[in-house]
Parts: sequence; C-alpha cells; structure tokens
Amino acid sequence: MNVNRTACPGQPPAPPGPGMLAHSRALRFWLDPANLDQAGPVVRTRTGPAIAYQVNDLALLRKVGSDEDTFRFWGPDTSLRDFTEDGVVGLEGAAHRERRAVMRPAFAASRLTSLGPSVQARTRQLLADLPADRPLDMRVEMSRLACGLLVSCVLNSELPPDTLSRIAAARSTLSGGIFWRYALAPWPWVPVPRRRACRRALAELDKAVRQVRTHHRPDPDGHDLVSLLEAAAPGDPHVVQRDIRALLIAGMETSASTLAWACYELGRHPHYQQALQDEADAAPDTSRLQAHQLPLATAFVQEVTRLHGIPFLVRRTRHQTCQGNVRIPAGAVVTLPLGALRRDRNRYTDPDVFDPRRWLPGAEPPPAHAALLAYGLGPRYCPAAAAADAMLPVALATLACSRTLRPAQPGRKIGVSLELTPTPKGLTMYATPCEPRLAGTGPAHGTDTASRSGAASTENGHA
Ligand code: HEM
Repeated sequence: MNVNRTACPGQPPAPPGPGMLAHSRALRFWLDPANLDQAGPVVRTRTGPAIAYQVNDLALLRKVGSDEDTFRFWGPDTSLRDFTEDGVVGLEGAAHRERRAVMRPAFAASRLTSLGPSVQARTRQLLADLPADRPLDMRVEMSRLACGLLVSCVLNSELPPDTLSRIAAARSTLSGGIFWRYALAPWPWVPVPRRRACRRALAELDKAVRQVRTHHRPDPDGHDLVSLLEAAAPGDPHVVQRDIRALLIAGMETSASTLAWACYELGRHPHYQQALQDEADAAPDTSRLQAHQLPLATAFVQEVTRLHGIPFLVRRTRHQTCQGNVRIPAGAVVTLPLGALRRDRNRYTDPDVFDPRRWLPGAEPPPAHAALLAYGLGPRYCPAAAAADAMLPVALATLACSRTLRPAQPGRKIGVSLELTPTPKGLTMYATPCEPRLAGTGPAHGTDTASRSGAASTENGHA
C-alpha cells in the first residue's frame, strides 16, 4: 500500500529549525552521525574527567548491548544502590531473568487492548486541570501526565493530584541525580550535583509508591503488574516497593520526555494538531481509542523518539576486553550512540527533518525500524515496550483533541537537559481548550484506519 504523503495537505515536510535547540557539546557528540563513518568502530572519548569508549558500528553495538558477561548494565552499579537495590533494574543474571518473567503476563497482548480506552479517559481527566490562561512548563506538565497514566493504567492505582504534582516536580532532580552519580562514580572526588535534593526526591517517590500500594485495585485474574509482583515476593514488601519504584522512575522518565518533545514538535508544526484530531475523529469508536487505529499518532511518537529519544545507552566493562581492535580496560564506561544512528543519512532520508510520515505503513523508502532501537536491546530490552506503544499514541491523540498548544515565547531557544533521557528545558506553552467539534465537520467515520496498524514492538526491535 502506498502511503498518504499528504496526510497534512499543503504542508511540506517541516524544516529542521536549526538553532532552535541548544544541545550541549557532549550531547552534540553523541548525536553526530559523522562518528559512525569516520571515527572507527570504537573510539575513546573524554567529557571533563570522564573517559568513555563509544561503539559506532551497529553490529558491534548490538553485541555489546546484549553481552552481559562482558558489559555490565548500569542498574546494578554500586553508585546507584539507593535507586535500584533489590528491584528489577538492580538485579543481574538468573535473579534478573526471574523478575522479568514475573512481570511478563501483565504486558501480554491480550491485556493491552483495554489500555487505549483507559489511557484516553485518564488523559482527559488529567488535562482538565490544566490552566489555560498562563504559560505552562511542559516538562513538568508532561511528567504529571505520564505519572498519572502509569499509576492508573499500568499500576491499577490512584494518587491524589498534589502527590502527582510533587512527583512531577521531583522527576528531573531524580533523573539528573541518577545520571551524574553513575557518570561520575569513577571519580569520587568530583562532587555530584544535587545530592541532597535527590535524596528528598527519592523519599517523595517512596511515599508515593506506598500510596500506590495502599490504593491498588487488583484485577480479578491477579495478572495485573502489582498483583504479580506481590505474589512473587510474599511477605517481602521491600522488594515489591523497589520494583514499583523502578517501574515508576523508568516509565515516567521515558514517557514524560517523549510527550514533552511531542508538545515541542506540535508547537513547531501546528498543522499536525489538526491532522491528529482528524485521525482520532475517524476512529470507529471515538470514545475508545486504540493505538492501532492511530497510525499518524503512532508515527508522530516514533519520529519524536528518532530525533529526541535516549541519545545513548551506557554499559561498563566487567573486565578488560578488545572490541573493534580497541583495548578497553576493566571498569570503563562504554556508550552506544543511538542518537547518531537515528540521524544517519544512510538510513533516513533528510535525517534532520521532523517528518512523522516516514513511519507510516507503506512509506517509501520503508522505515528503518532496526536502527531506531527505541526500547533498547538484549536482556534489558524495555519490559513495558508494548504497553508504551499502546499508551503514548492514544495519550498524544487525546492531547491534540483536547488542547491547542502554542509556544509562549515563539523563537526562543530551548535547552536540552542532560538527564536519564534528555528533556526540553524552558519549553513553556499555552494549552488552550479546543473548540468543541461541530457535527459533520470531521472526516467520515468508519474509515479503515485499523488495517493500517502502527508498529508493534518485539524484543528484537520493531516488527
Ligand atoms: C516511551 C516510552 C519508553 C521508552 C522509549 C523506553 C525505553 C527503554 C530503554 C531504551 C530501556 C533499556 C535501557 C538500557 O538498556 O540501558 C528500558 C528499560 C526499562 N524500561 Fe522502558 N521505555 C519506555 C517506557 C517504559 C514504561 C512505561 C515502563 C514501566 C511501566 C518502563 C520500564 C522499564 C524498566 C523497568 C526497564 C529496565 C529493564 C531491566 O533492567 O531489565 N519503560 N526502557
């Protein structure tokens, strides 16, 4: 099937908007596709006191990301014990595999069908509180939305609005704290920024996790995430607490930054707001949206991930090793530059252009799913990838149908904070409620969008 390249009629693919984002020097390096061809398969890098080895070759990158005998995942690192201890992120080997297996039934395809409608309903509720008369910090607002969605739709619980706001405000402190603690661990004399604020944020999160457990509503079959975790660790509330906390940090961090960058791109390309509304209006049941009925919203999220997703994965060598003819010492940081792969012109046409239509089914050239690696790879592949695929396009479509987003200071440079996932710094926007749609002005219902289903995630990457 040929793709409809005129999904937004009259609009050429959006220009990259050079100079609109202020990337740090380190981030520019991780995002630079020139390294892939020119710097060699493995290159030694230096950022301040931090020495790292960057793997530029895709095949080698896959090997490093999957080989836990040689390369240690960041979660179990001793510098992060406060954050990851006893939870799935901090475990290794058989214990890690067992904990992943415990969670798996909660993310089975059969359970995810109800996720779309519940995400739509909860997104509407959470957006209803947004003030319309003043600029909003979208980084904080999207953290609040992501946290609210995770708690209600994935953890089957509820948190009061003021707790959601406190967690949203703490997210960036936690994320930055984890990043810097890990990055600076080999140089203990270099002060880690925001240490005390980070402890406070972690205590806040722990309090919220206890509330999540108190208000948890188990599914009748006991296969929801929290019930599964509790059944696997009877009498050990500490382990369950740590797992829920890890899920909340990992899930909120990634979902919040994806939604915040989606707002940034909607502000730059307002015609997509209308296109996303039209697509949602064309769904067979507009009050029960499902991601597979929203190919444009799915493609929009994928394009946001391509240009703004996690720029690199990180590992540390367990022992000395030789990769790509480069000797890497024991304990060295190894980076896997996903951001550069996603900007590689050998894989993507006009890689700097934000063009969601490249991901639509039937697009020419066919979309390069294999280099996107949105959810990582190997034993640490995101356990909630399928849930995120089901949730985010529906949340985005609901957002586009409820509010019109407009930058509060058009033309202002947006900073990119270096945290677990980069988020837009200083992105303030007005979120004006959309006019109620007049009957008959939307596209005809019953359009066969379901057959143009969006991409489904698998542990080997995207299908
Ligand atoms: C846009 C959405 C998301 C993206 C892009 C994303 C991406 C990723 C990536 C790349 C990794 C691997 C990190 C590495 O190898 O260093 C990962 C792991 C993880 N993700 Fe996600 N994720 C998303 C949503 C979620 C959600 C909603 C949850 C929880 C409900 C979640 C929970 C986790 C956990 C617990 C891990 C660690 C797995 C382990 O240690 O075995 N993620 N995610």
